[in-house]
Formats: sequence, structure tokens, C-alpha cells
Amino acid sequence: MLLFGAVAARADEGMWLPALISQRIDAMGQMGCRLSAEDIYSINQASLKDAVVLFGGGCTGELVSDRGLLLTNHHCGYSYIQRHSSVEHDYLKDGFWAGSPEEELPNPGLTVRFLDRMEDVTALMLRGYEPSMSEEQRDSVVEANSASLIRSIENPAEGIRASVEALYYANQYYLFVYRVFSDVRLVGAPPSSIGKFGGDTDNWMWPRHTGDFSVFRIYATPDGKPAAYSPSNVPYRPRKHFRISTAGVREGDFTFVYGCPGSTREYVHSEEVRYIGEVSDPQKIALRTLRLDIQKKYMSQSQAVRIQYSAKNASVANAWKKWQGESKGIARLGAVAAKQEYERRFEKWAEGTSYEGLLPRIKEIHQRREPSYLAYEYLNETVRSIEILRFASEVRNALERGRSTEGITAQFFKDYCQSIDEETFVAIMEAFGKGVPAGLLPRCYTDKLARFGSVEAWKKYVFKKSVFTNPAKVKALGEKDLKRLGKDPALEMWDAFQAWFEQDLRPVIAQTGKELKSAMREYMRGQMEFEPSKAFYPDANLTLRVAYGKVSGYRPVDAVWYNPVSTLKGIIEKDNPDIFDYNIPQVLRDIYEAGGVEDQSVCFLATNHTSGGNSGSPVINADGDLIGINFDRVWEGTMSDLVFDPDYCRNISIDIRYLLFIIERIGGAGWLLEEMDFVPAGSGTVLAANQ
Ligand code: ARG
Ligand code: GLU
Repeated sequence: MLLFGAVAARADEGMWLPALISQRIDAMGQMGCRLSAEDIYSINQASLKDAVVLFGGGCTGELVSDRGLLLTNHHCGYSYIQRHSSVEHDYLKDGFWAGSPEEELPNPGLTVRFLDRMEDVTALMLRGYEPSMSEEQRDSVVEANSASLIRSIENPAEGIRASVEALYYANQYYLFVYRVFSDVRLVGAPPSSIGKFGGDTDNWMWPRHTGDFSVFRIYATPDGKPAAYSPSNVPYRPRKHFRISTAGVREGDFTFVYGCPGSTREYVHSEEVRYIGEVSDPQKIALRTLRLDIQKKYMSQSQAVRIQYSAKNASVANAWKKWQGESKGIARLGAVAAKQEYERRFEKWAEGTSYEGLLPRIKEIHQRREPSYLAYEYLNETVRSIEILRFASEVRNALERGRSTEGITAQFFKDYCQSIDEETFVAIMEAFGKGVPAGLLPRCYTDKLARFGSVEAWKKYVFKKSVFTNPAKVKALGEKDLKRLGKDPALEMWDAFQAWFEQDLRPVIAQTGKELKSAMREYMRGQMEFEPSKAFYPDANLTLRVAYGKVSGYRPVDAVWYNPVSTLKGIIEKDNPDIFDYNIPQVLRDIYEAGGVEDQSVCFLATNHTSGGNSGSPVINADGDLIGINFDRVWEGTMSDLVFDPDYCRNISIDIRYLLFIIERIGGAGWLLEEMDFVPAGSGTVLAANQ
């Protein structure tokens, strides 16, 4: 039915399934790769896939020693580093380095998962399905089949987990079997002035000089099984770990990225691209600008608030900036018009086939969906982003389940600044009134404005009357209070907007979502038939993928060429004690002054097609050795989640040699290097001997 991975895709574009990498291995070979498909993915022998993990809920990590040592990004380890931090031990600010395994810090809740195997289970999932069935019936057939398959495989006691994922809009299904480890300890992290150097100013940009890495270690039972944290666990011995290449990178070198990209939408209708680039992104950017400005104001006034809001601020800023690059990229590429042109050709081809009329139908669904969907995005970016409201609903959830609220309460107030929340409330709820599409503005908004006269007065009422601003009162709450809690102004507001969503928005979103799901499944199949010689890769869905390309600079604007490798010299050029994002540690200045390190490479660019979730992914050379850790894309190329452009799309990685330099010379944790294997052999120790 489908032609998976036939002839060549456009150079460098694509996130390929490792189990099918044999279909790409010739193309990779032509670009310089010297590995076989079995080296990359094998179920019979140890292969590189056994050295790659999904780290936490949305990053990638890689194993670099036979003692479970794991590398990922600083921003992926950030919340764990923060949780171990306080004003006295500020590991975010000063960095953290365990002096020995005994000093490594456990992180409850953090898991990593290895992929054991993946396989096509499409036929099995569709057993019992008839083409005459409705979408709901199809879903329940697939759900039942997948539940029984998963049940037959999972073994929680051994950490074996399985999931069935739909690919190509559910034209295909794959089973993924994982081993999940839950004793993962923090080994080291550079100070933020290195790990987040350039901060949100440089985020998503080149030239880049961020040492965005952190180091963890996986622990297991003495016989190598996954287990919850226990002092008797021992470092895990992985089937495979990466060797580290210290040979460096040059323009044109082959590289590939092995990791877990989260979500892409390469095959959507032009209407969706238009909505994202011209409606959704610009409005969400404006809402987040309001929040970020308020946070920044308070963070610059107080060291304590800076620590409290560092992670929150980074996560709000991150998508905010990405959306800016994305909507600009969509406009620059003329991506909407290009999709429309493609759609015209498709429609012509579709005449007289079962695909005739499909595109107008998809367009109509998008148009019916858009106002409600935009309102829903407003809800997320406003009401659901007011911290006190979210917290109130979490507390009630816990009470309803009979759970203790002590932990969440302590955690919430540790990182809460009420003034920020109050100011944010006013700014974003005013924007809500202006931005939600006409006719969809809910009574729970207009009534409140009528009653209080202004958002400011409404806010005052909520914060003054709610118990949720008071830790002692929250701690005293019990199940007996559940009934009257619904009248608390914070919860009352949360519930009213939730009801609005349920009654006015959800039905439209769910209905159009269902229609889109089956229409897009058809359209995906149609696109594959329309271009039978093109290799289609499935959209990202946090499953393991291989993207390959070359080390390469790019031309961001006319007359400017960006070299692909940045150096320590550039850090010194940016260094400025008066600017928070560029204030490097004194020890780095001293090392630089002492001489001999200006050419130390820091970050590099390549043409690998990556996305959010690829953070922390191993960047690998033609021989399968680790040369870097992926952490970002360039701003001009962030539309690659929708449309890939080889001229502008670049992934950004930290050069592995910079990581070694930081561990040894800033962290003083050279003991970690002794666990690693270097190519050329012994080059890691040479590095040490050079000091
Ligand atoms: N842009 C990168 C990513 O999408 C890095 C984000 C963390 N860094 C930051 N400055 N916020 O995750
Ligand atoms: N920093 C991103 C992440 O957290 C990766 C960059 C991207 O989106 O490509 O996964």
C-alpha cells in the first residue's frame, strides 16, 4: 500500500526510524558515513541505539562510560539542578560536581528509558477493522489491540514498558519496547554562566557559546535491573556506550543525531501553516512578552526571585523566541504559498481518484476549527498560566484523591512570587479580552468585568479572598473543606473558565479534531501515492530517530556567512560582568589570560533535521564516535517543524571537547574522564596532561 523510504529525500531533511535505517544507509555512506545499518540499530547485538535514552519526559541523553555515565543538556537537567539548590548551595549559579560516586545526588521522579526494540505492528493493530467502520470504531479496535499487545509485553517489576505509536497519521503503527530506569543521579553541572551562557539573549541563535551540558549517572540493582533509588544500587553497565572523538569538526564533515524529536508537522495543509505563522504564533508571542517583562523586572531586583523564577522564565522564553523565528521563517520561505501550490498539483492529480475533494474538505475543517482553537490557546496562555489558579486546582486534586498536600504546597511557595503573579494576572487577562475571537468571549469574563469594573479590581478580589495565597491556610485544608473550596475565588475562576472550555470550545475542537484525524490520514496516504519516488519520514512523536547531515555554516542574511564552529575567543568577546547573560566565571577569564586556549572550540552547526526533544542528543561522526551534544537550532530555521529549508536549518551542538575542557578545568572533575573511552586512544588523558 505504501512506499516507505523509497528513493532520495531532499538532502539532510528527515528524521528516520532507526529500524529502517538500512533504507538510508547508502545515502549516509555517500555523505561519508562509515557505519553499517546494524552498527546503528540492531536487535541481535549491541548497537548505538543501546547508548541513547529518552531523558525525563522530553530530552535525550547518551551513555559515555561502562559505569552508566550519561550526558545531556544543562537545560534538560535544569529543574533537577534547581531542586538541589538554595541560596546557600546555589548549584545553578556555582555549578555542582560530585567528587566521587557517593556524592552523586538522587532525583526522585526522574527516569531514563532505553529502546529495546521497535517493530511494525500495523496488521496486528488493524485486526478486526473494517473500512466501513466509523473513526470511533476504528479507534476502539486499535486501542483494544494495542492494550492487549502491551499487556503481553510489559513487566513493570523489570522496568519493561511498551507503547504502540501511530505513524504517518495512523497509516502505520509501531510497537516500541523500553527499559525504564528510575535511579538517575546528578553527577555534575557547570555554573549557569557556562551552561546557560548567553541565556535567552543567545537562545536559538548563532554565533553561540553555550556550554549546555550536565552529567548524570544511571544506577541499577547489582544484577543490572532497573529499580527505584536505593543506596545499595550500583552504577548501571549499559550494553553500549559512546567512544568520544577528540579529533574535532570541520565544515563538510558527516554527522548524525540520534535522539527523540518530540513533534513535527511536515505534511499538514497550508491552512494550518497559515494559522501557525500568521495567527497563533504572533498572538502567543504577544501574551508571553507581557509575562516575561514582568518576570524580568522582579528578577533583576532580587537574587531570591531570580533563583525562584529562573526555570519558569526560561521555559516561557524558550517557546516565545522559537515562535518568532518560526513565523518569520514561514513568511520568508513563502511556505503558505508553496503548500498551496503543492495542493493545486495534488488536486489536479487527485481528479477522478478517491482523493478528489479531500483538500477542500480539510480546508473547511480548519476554518471551522480556528476560532475555537485560538480561544483555547488563549485559555492556556492566560488563565492556565496564572500560578495561583493552577496551584489551587492541584491542591484540590490532591485532596480529592486523599493525598497529602504538604509536598506540593512547600514546592509551590518555595518558587512563588505573588507580586509577579498579580501583575501577570492583570496584563494577560486584559489581553484575553482583546484577543479572544468576537462571539467567543465567555460570560465568566464579561460578567466579572461588569461586576468589578476593571481587571485590576477583579485581580485584587481574587488574591485578597483566596486561601491559596496563604501557605498555613493551605496546609490546614482537609477533605472536609472540599465542598466550600469551590467558592474560593481562585478555584471559582479556574472552574468557570474550565466550564467555558468544556461547553463552548471542546465540542468544536473535538469534532473537528476527529474529522481532521481521518482526513489527514487520507491526505498522508494520498501524498505518498502522489509522489511515489519520494522517501517520507514519519512526523516526530518522541520516538527514537536518526537525522543525518554535515557540519555546515550558513548565510543568515545577504552578505553574511556564519562559520560553523565557535571558539573560546568568542566567549571572551561577549564576556561582560555587567550583563547577567554574559558574565563568565572569573576562573574562565584566568584560564584564558594564561594563554593557549583561544582556539578551543565551543559549539558547532550542522544540517541535521532536529526538533524539541533532540536536546541532549548525541551528535556522532562517520565512525559512530561522539563529537557533540545537540542543544538547539538556529532561529532562522525553526520553521523546520513544518517546512525544512536546507539553506537555513541548522542544529547547534556543544563540541564534546569543550565539555571535556569544562569538566576538567572549571569543574575539577577530571576523575570522570577516566571512565570515558577516547579516540584516538588516550587523547583524553593527553588533554589532561596538557594542563
Ligand atoms: N532553545 C533550546 C531548546 O529549545 C534551549 C532552551 C534552554 N535555554 C534557554 N535559554 N531558555 O530547548
Ligand atoms: N532545545 C531544544 C530541546 O529542548 C532542541 C532544539 C530544537 O527544538 O531543535 O529539545
